[in-house]
Amino acid sequence: MNSEIITETSQDLIAAKDVAKFFQQGSDKLWVLKNLSLTVQAGDAVCIRGASGAGKSTLLHILGTLDRPSQGQVFYRGANLLTKTDDQLADFRNKKMGFVFQFHHLMSEFTALENVMMPCRIAGQSKSVAREKAEALLVELQLESRMTHYPNEMSGGEQQRVAIARALVQNPEILFADEPTGNLDTANGQRIQELFFELKARRGLTLIVVSHDVDFAKRFPRVLSLKDGQWA
Ligand SMILES: Nc1ncnc2c1ncn2[C@@H]1O[C@H](COP(=O)(O)OP(=O)(O)OP(=O)(O)O)[C@@H](O)[C@H]1O
Ligand SMILES: [Mg+2]
Repeated sequence: MNSEIITETSQDLIAAKDVAKFFQQGSDKLWVLKNLSLTVQAGDAVCIRGASGAGKSTLLHILGTLDRPSQGQVFYRGANLLTKTDDQLADFRNKKMGFVFQFHHLMSEFTALENVMMPCRIAGQSKSVAREKAEALLVELQLESRMTHYPNEMSGGEQQRVAIARALVQNPEILFADEPTGNLDTANGQRIQELFFELKARRGLTLIVVSHDVDFAKRFPRVLSLKDGQWA
């Protein structure tokens, strides 16, 4: 067990307790996560590493309530998340959590501005409020000249910055990222890495990032390694 993984306290932002996950493969259960525990404090920056298939994305999805564990518990500021309905969790994610993935997953038929406005609109905010928040964030991320561009009219680095803006427009407490630089060239990847830490400092964000990138991992005060669904 990794010594950095400590026991749950009421101060924890996220506490995962004995989380296990299997996928059914015919008549067999494929156990992908095996009794993992983890606590993350507000303001932490955690990098999760491990070989392909180790269970990193599965764990990130469970911590981010995008998926439910087969066993174990996930708490957010002491509240048990697994007793909540899918609709309650969707609302919770919209307000508290931002997600960035390897591929930007922007909606191709919407402009950068409209993509960033989307989480606000889903939360029922007016178009003018959503626009104001999205514009401010796109300016903060130096994308003011790309607001009316569609995803296919932007570079990979710009697309990923728009995806980061979308993840942050609701001012979440925590930003999850799964290989956020995996699809970018070195220079753009470094710019995105820089941006994560700038945003963390400016907004007091908590970061939980999966990355294979050794240089990126070195910048995190806390690096956890997964091996075959357990802490290495
Ligand atoms: N929906 C699913 N059904 C069956 N098996 C799955 C499913 N999702 C993931 N797995 C399996 O679970 C294991 C862990 O997958 P996961 O995506 O968490 O790995 P990872 O560490 O993120 O790998 P990578 O670095 O390649 O992204 C893999 O063996 C994968 O094939
Ligand atoms: Mg993965």
